Amino acid sequence: MPADIEILTDAADLRTAQQVFRTAMIGVPQLDAEAADGLNEPGRTLGARSDGELIGTANSYTSWLVVPGGERLPHAAVTHVGVLPTHTRQGVVTALLRRQLADIAERGEIVASLRATQGGIYERFGYGIAGSAARLEIDRRRARFRDTVPAAGPVRLLAPADAWEVPAKIYATAGVSWVGAIDRPAQWWRLQQLMRGQGHVAVHGDPASEDGFVRYRGVESAEWSRSPQRTMVVDDLIATTDAAYAGLLRHVLAADIVDSVVIPAAAPDAPLRHLLTDERAVAVTEIRDETWLRLIDAPAALNRRAYNPGPPVVLGITDPILPANTATYRITQDGASVVDDPADLTTDIATLAAAYLGGTPWRHLTLAGRVTEHRPGAAAAADVLFAVEDHPFSGTYF
Ligand SMILES: CC(C)(COP(=O)(O)OP(=O)(O)OC[C@H]1O[C@@H](n2cnc3c(N)ncnc32)[C@H](O)[C@@H]1OP(=O)(O)O)[C@@H](O)C(=O)NCCC(=O)NCCS
Repeated sequence: MPADIEILTDAADLRTAQQVFRTAMIGVPQLDAEAADGLNEPGRTLGARSDGELIGTANSYTSWLVVPGGERLPHAAVTHVGVLPTHTRQGVVTALLRRQLADIAERGEIVASLRATQGGIYERFGYGIAGSAARLEIDRRRARFRDTVPAAGPVRLLAPADAWEVPAKIYATAGVSWVGAIDRPAQWWRLQQLMRGQGHVAVHGDPASEDGFVRYRGVESAEWSRSPQRTMVVDDLIATTDAAYAGLLRHVLAADIVDSVVIPAAAPDAPLRHLLTDERAVAVTEIRDETWLRLIDAPAALNRRAYNPGPPVVLGITDPILPANTATYRITQDGASVVDDPADLTTDIATLAAAYLGGTPWRHLTLAGRVTEHRPGAAAAADVLFAVEDHPFSGTYF
């Protein structure tokens, strides 16, 4: 049995927790002690010990998550999960994540989410893949904008001194509202600054009312000045209006010196290719899971998202870890309520999470045997209620 799980408060323990995570990850560099300070939000870092030494950790941040209909639900952004390679397969992460789920529920947060480094771990704890991201590779010379794309507003480059503060302010004030978007706490910005370095930042819109920004850099190469094949990576692209989206991409694709532009995490249904005269200038080279979602308070989560008009569906849900979620829910276009009716569809809490943001069709989950259909046509009816306009996408890696 693993050691007890505790909330870490001591500054030295919090530093060690960062080291444990980074050692567990193998390829993520260590931070020096000063840099590690202040990266963990007080009261949210869990530690597991063996013989007094920290050997496992799990952390989270206070955040929000946008759900269909636009509401921002109280959300725990789960991160820094790791167990030292000398102590794996002893149930340590199981103990950490179960305790973490109980703590998040205790705080009254309605959902939790994470980005997984491995696909086989989190479903057992009730997390399901609710949103995905695409890697775009753009042949910059072929990427010409159509004459019909409307003119954008002003785009300006930020001075290095403003390159973190101004984007953080834009993100907080520009009305981020797409389904799957999350709040970025101060610690997130600090960690980005530490890990990503400077890069270049352009913003769209008039000063103090900007509606988007883009952060990009050249792929490091000793031969950058003479290279025949230079690549730019877009680390962050936030646009809260169509004009910002087009204007910032025009800016990026106007960089004469680069041959290709890589956007490692774009919305899978990003409209960029439609803006270009040759759609093949944009290649989607990967689609991968982004948001792993956990419904902490399923009744509240189901009730606070919007549904489309359509016949009601009754869902039977089981959750062995947070048993208050085990219930039968009637979903109508007006919301969700707990009922005693027989279920049309039965499934577990992780599968419900996969469908919750509208990004995974109930019919596909039924095809996989993850949902049992007790009334023919119920999965298709649930798809009508749950469907969303744009694929759920966050754009924030943590
Ligand atoms: C992944 C990791 C956290 C697992 O920790 P752990 O303490 O060994 O996990 P547990 O012993 O509690 O095992 C939990 C279950 O997951 C399974 N499991 C653990 N690691 C697994 C893996 N890499 N692939 C598939 N299953 C795995 C275990 O077999 C166990 O299954 P069971 O409940 O059916 O017996 C640990 O290996 C680690 O730190 N890896 C590197 C860092 C990392 O990937 N962190 C995640 C960042 S998001």
